[in-house]
Amino acid sequence: MTGSTPGSAAGADGSAGTSRIEWVRSGCRLLGSIAAEFARSRPFAGLTIGTGIHLEPKTVALLLTLAEGGARVVSTGNLSSTQADAVDYLRARGVEVIGAATTDEAEHDRHLREVIATRPQLLLDNGGDLFVRYLAGPYPGLLGGTEETTSGRMRLRPLAARLGVPVLVINDSPIKQFAENRHAVGQSVLESYLRITNQMTNGRQVAVFGYGACGKGVAANFRNACASVAVVEIDPVTRLEARLDGFAVPGREEALRTADVVITVTGAESVITAGDLGLLKDGVVLMNAGHFPREIAVDELSGAPAVVQRYAAADGIETFRLGDGRRFHLLARGHMANLAGPRPLGNSIESMDLGFALQARCLEAVAAGSLVGGHTVVPVPRFIDELVATSFLDLYGRPGSASTGSASTGSGADPRAAANGAGGVADDEGAGQHLAAGRAPGPDVRA
Ligand SMILES: NC(=O)c1ccc[n+]([C@@H]2O[C@H](COP(=O)([O-])OP(=O)(O)OC[C@H]3O[C@@H](n4cnc5c(N)ncnc54)[C@H](O)[C@@H]3O)[C@@H](O)[C@H]2O)c1
Repeated sequence: MTGSTPGSAAGADGSAGTSRIEWVRSGCRLLGSIAAEFARSRPFAGLTIGTGIHLEPKTVALLLTLAEGGARVVSTGNLSSTQADAVDYLRARGVEVIGAATTDEAEHDRHLREVIATRPQLLLDNGGDLFVRYLAGPYPGLLGGTEETTSGRMRLRPLAARLGVPVLVINDSPIKQFAENRHAVGQSVLESYLRITNQMTNGRQVAVFGYGACGKGVAANFRNACASVAVVEIDPVTRLEARLDGFAVPGREEALRTADVVITVTGAESVITAGDLGLLKDGVVLMNAGHFPREIAVDELSGAPAVVQRYAAADGIETFRLGDGRRFHLLARGHMANLAGPRPLGNSIESMDLGFALQARCLEAVAAGSLVGGHTVVPVPRFIDELVATSFLDLYGRPGSASTGSASTGSGADPRAAANGAGGVADDEGAGQHLAAGRAPGPDVRA
């Protein structure tokens, strides 16, 4: 394990460093106020929460918020994104972390199984990895949990009947869609491209594969950075939307022939394969922002007869040379470039604070047994969206509120004040007490 001296700006492996973790924690003002509330209400007392989520500064803030609520938190990271300083920081504060950073799928599988072996009552999943392994050996006492991503929802939805417990899909909250997927992923993918390549975007031809929430943000941010953006989208309705948003929507072959930068953000596999090698321009940059590192079929590209050389060109950049002299450059080995590249910052603090506040409130609701009638692989209930939106507007949007809330000190704004804002919980009990009492402050029209 690579440690870092307290207060260091960055670990030797490019991980965050303690000072950045503190910076992020103090910026997660919603989580700070929830942690202060959880310290009093202890919604997870006596429960184990198993997590399989990227271990980086923002998830540190989330996991410590859950621990504040009385949970034994047992966690492991995702493939290739685990940051050593985040692991050190969590362990020093009592969170059990299994394994360390790995790019080896078999090793990652062992870590996930070790989390499940602790028989958590609640699972905080990312990509469906934990729930799928739970189903391979179910145990009594699982109350349910959350799933963070689109990819995980796609994997778990067909398994809903077998799961039979509440699984709330954070990604399907409108808040997650616009705050994180559209605005924050778009910004951080652009930031990561600039940071890793140090190349200009102006006038460059960029092909964005996938025009879901993430693709919309990526396309918009590159256009705002003066690139010429084309969208490749398999769904004709979404393709039309991209066209009406002002993007070119060529066929995939034409897009690949003309692109200087190709960005995949679809949630699908093998979007770019060895069959595309003949189309690529010399010097094209390939970058993935989708959850799984198989959108660009890296192994297939690497083993293609046309590829005669693969070498590290710079930190986070591998260059592949073809027999005819053309080269293409792959960022972050095809993993999510905004989380797995060198010195990754990920999405903005505030966007993650929102998404993780949804996580904390959803797990609280599942623990309280306040969700009746299935809720297996469904979006976040509406009352939780409203509660988090109101709390955010109150904490971040109130004139003169700049000094309120601090995750690191636990002196966040009174959550009851947040809950009492416009559209929120109109009494003096505090939002968590609604969840703990099994009462939803409003109808859940989507459940
Ligand atoms: N990098 C990050 O920080 C980050 C954050 C959130 C989500 N994600 C991941 O990004 C991916 C996309 O998320 P989303 O919420 O936009 O998903 P989405 O389902 O809303 O959109 C995906 C789009 O891709 C299209 N698509 C599928 N296969 C395609 C193909 N072969 N070619 C072209 N288009 C194709 C679909 O029609 C759809 O419109 C997921 O894997 C998600 O987990 C990444």
